[in-house]
Amino acid sequence: MNHAKMIVDKDFKISQIDKRVYGSFIEHLGRAVYTGIYEPGHPTADKNGFRQDVLNLVKELQVPIVRYPGGNFVSGYQWEDGVGPREKRPARLELAWRTLETNQFGLNEFADWCKLANTDYMMAVNLGTRGIPEALALLEYCNHPSGTAWSDLRVKHGYQAPHNIRTWCLGNEMDGPWQIGHKTATEYGRLAAETAKAMKMIDPTIELVSCGSSNSKMPTFPDWESETLSHTYDYVDFISMHQYYGNRDNDSANFLACSLEMDAFIKTVISTCDYIKAKKRSNKTLNLSFDEWNVWFHSNADSDDQMANRPWTVAPPILEDNYNFEDALVVGCLLITLLKHADRVKMACLAQLVNVIAPIMTDAGGKAWKQTIFYPYLHASVYGRGVSLQPILESPKYDCKSFTDVPYIESAVTYNEEAGEVTIFAVNRSLTDGISLSCDLRSFSDVKLIEHITLENDDLKAVNSSACEKVAPSHSNATKVDDGKLETMLNKASWNVIRLSVK
Ligand code: AHR
Repeated sequence: MNHAKMIVDKDFKISQIDKRVYGSFIEHLGRAVYTGIYEPGHPTADKNGFRQDVLNLVKELQVPIVRYPGGNFVSGYQWEDGVGPREKRPARLELAWRTLETNQFGLNEFADWCKLANTDYMMAVNLGTRGIPEALALLEYCNHPSGTAWSDLRVKHGYQAPHNIRTWCLGNEMDGPWQIGHKTATEYGRLAAETAKAMKMIDPTIELVSCGSSNSKMPTFPDWESETLSHTYDYVDFISMHQYYGNRDNDSANFLACSLEMDAFIKTVISTCDYIKAKKRSNKTLNLSFDEWNVWFHSNADSDDQMANRPWTVAPPILEDNYNFEDALVVGCLLITLLKHADRVKMACLAQLVNVIAPIMTDAGGKAWKQTIFYPYLHASVYGRGVSLQPILESPKYDCKSFTDVPYIESAVTYNEEAGEVTIFAVNRSLTDGISLSCDLRSFSDVKLIEHITLENDDLKAVNSSACEKVAPSHSNATKVDDGKLETMLNKASWNVIRLSVK
């Protein structure tokens, strides 16, 4: 049966979507900062050295929040090195990625960049090699108005007004043995709780993210969540989730189903949070910050041997995945999964934003260009605002190596009441067949088609480059709407964005 049916009703609300679910991430890693967002001397660079071609693409994506400065980098982060007069900033050995960090770009430059990109700043404190005093100094430097040593130092550095950074991560992936200053769950839980308590004494308006597991395959998952939250639950607002997906076996049907794994991961973390809530007899419900997610496998992080033999250089081109068309379909499925959990996933960061496993690539000195995954991210961020609705969907299904009963059609629906728009996001996972879709929009009146955007390509492995954009959106004319009923065709292996105006 190559037919799917759907009911969309404005009363089937999952939740208001927190726009921060379309966040992203920039780490001091490879060419993300240097020759990514910052390249003095580039033809498009402004007086600060910010590449305007990159900034324009970031603005096009309407990225609401960007996590910075890491990542693994955070576990050795010495924020003081990156502030003040540039000529006095020290160059350091950066151990997480074995690079030379010049510190020519630091937190004040990032705050300036965020303003220009119209995005919020999500900061992280180092709980690997450092602890409570350094986290407090950093917060005081960033958010306290003036009249103290750290806040006055910021003023001296040219920033009279505080940055007022609202969202802070308490370290990064502290469960990972690769992390500098790796900790057991109890060690991390205690340190994070005490750091959180003290940080909220300085600024009670901040929101804090406790480190969850580095991925769902970690041997300590989900005990890590349970143990750390038993310490941090009362003091934090979010727990983090990280997961990367890949098609290492070149099994596309299986790869396209990996969002089912994301769905199961989210459900397990929700259950663990709610278990701690019950144990503590707490009234507070903890939300999730899925602050690292993406496809990542084309370029792997260097092995320990490769890493040990790499010379210390500034901004080496590492983790530069060149994404293909099927990766874009997977990113679409993952975005749909995040929207289906809009009631608990309130923040998420596509990792990362520029050059390093990123939707935006740059040629040093040359062009900025769009990877295939740029497009589903763009469409979700721009059109997926408002309320996430639960579509009732009947779709044909398939079995593959890691999953059974995988729906061929994956879909999320958003309703932006202010704009008077309903958007249906849908991926057809079938690699061979188009699937027709009938959708009953029974609670809406005056339903009219605005446009049906698609991303399709006969070659699942097609990639974009600075010279040629092989994978780019087009429009379908397959959608007809009549009397609140929609009929369309979702072509094989396609990402679809059906925008409707409604009353
Ligand atoms: O995003 C790349 C790396 O992946 C991050 O530094 C780390 O947090 C994760 O393991």
